[in-house]
Amino acid sequence: MNILGLETSCDETAAAIVTDKREIRSNVVLSQLQEHEIYGGVVPEIAARAHLDHLDSIIRAALHDANMDWDEIDGIAATCGPGLIGGLMIGMMSAKAIAAARKLPFIAVNHLEGHALTARLTDNIEFPYLLLLVSGGHTQILVAEDVGIYKRLGTTLDDAAGECFDKSAKLMGLPHPGGPNLEKIARECTDHEAALNRFPLPRPMKGRKGCDFSFSGLKTAVRTHVQSLPEGPLNRQDIAALAYACETAIADILANRSQNAIREFKQSYHAGTTSPALVVCGGVSANKAIRNRLEELTTKENMHLIAPPLNLCGDNAAMIAWAGLEHLRLGHTSPLDFKARPRWPLAPTAETRPGAGVKA
Ligand code: KG4
Ligand code: ZN
Repeated sequence: MNILGLETSCDETAAAIVTDKREIRSNVVLSQLQEHEIYGGVVPEIAARAHLDHLDSIIRAALHDANMDWDEIDGIAATCGPGLIGGLMIGMMSAKAIAAARKLPFIAVNHLEGHALTARLTDNIEFPYLLLLVSGGHTQILVAEDVGIYKRLGTTLDDAAGECFDKSAKLMGLPHPGGPNLEKIARECTDHEAALNRFPLPRPMKGRKGCDFSFSGLKTAVRTHVQSLPEGPLNRQDIAALAYACETAIADILANRSQNAIREFKQSYHAGTTSPALVVCGGVSANKAIRNRLEELTTKENMHLIAPPLNLCGDNAAMIAWAGLEHLRLGHTSPLDFKARPRWPLAPTAETRPGAGVKA
């Protein structure tokens, strides 16, 4: 079975083909970084127009790279939420049009489920597994029980981890995209201990019961430290030290909340799993300091850490094609009047959090 997946929920225009043998036959991602850079963040209208301009050729490239013809495609999956509505509509309508014209099944994919199921594409892991989903829009801990079935253990009460990286980076005068640029400059910090002493940052929620997160206090503390630096152009060494302190604080928070989740997971699911795993996914999972912290934690807890290869951490269409394939082989398809969903929680019955908006 070969599935074409389309991803247009934010600022990547992507198309990919995956097979039921877990092969990624093609994975084309066009980033709109340059279009948005001068604005310091993603501008929804510009993103939608760029998707419209490029999606056709990206789909053609995906078929070409896979060395496949339309006749060899068995279904079309597209991200239909959550995300920016203009972009979602473009990927979704293209997928529906192809499905209708070629009489193929259409599968509406939840972008978060694309991230959540990537570990089954790359590592063939079994359900249930613990999932730390850390992206620009979401920060949640869930148990992936089955395709389409997720139990949320915790979520952010305010900002997402990626948002905290991005906003902190902006405060430090680093260019968009904040997360990777903050990681890069943090590596220039040579005296780690001095950096942590000079910039003591809070770890909101650390040590508390449960698995919820909060990042807005951390971002505010970063702002206070930036304002305390000498006036004029920011010194690179100062920024490297502050970036290191900020990255360490975020890694600490994620590890602490994951530790509570591991305890809950072991209590409720351990008997059913031979090889318990913590899967980390979403754009922030590309961060090396975070991966290292989680690796230490899982080793201590006798669990495996599964982190996607770097090219599958951020937004891509291979994960969408794979999520579509997982649904299609269970017989799940979507009607052609499926409506795009800017908000589409993975665990729909979990309580929404007042400050989290679409991130809950
Ligand atoms: O999953 P993703 O590509 O898009 C969403 O679905 O949101 O995640 C994007 C987020 C951004 O906030 C970006 O700054 C962050 O992931 N990110 C990183 C790194 N690479 C991407 N954050 C920290 N370190 C990185 N290396
Ligand atoms: Zn994403």
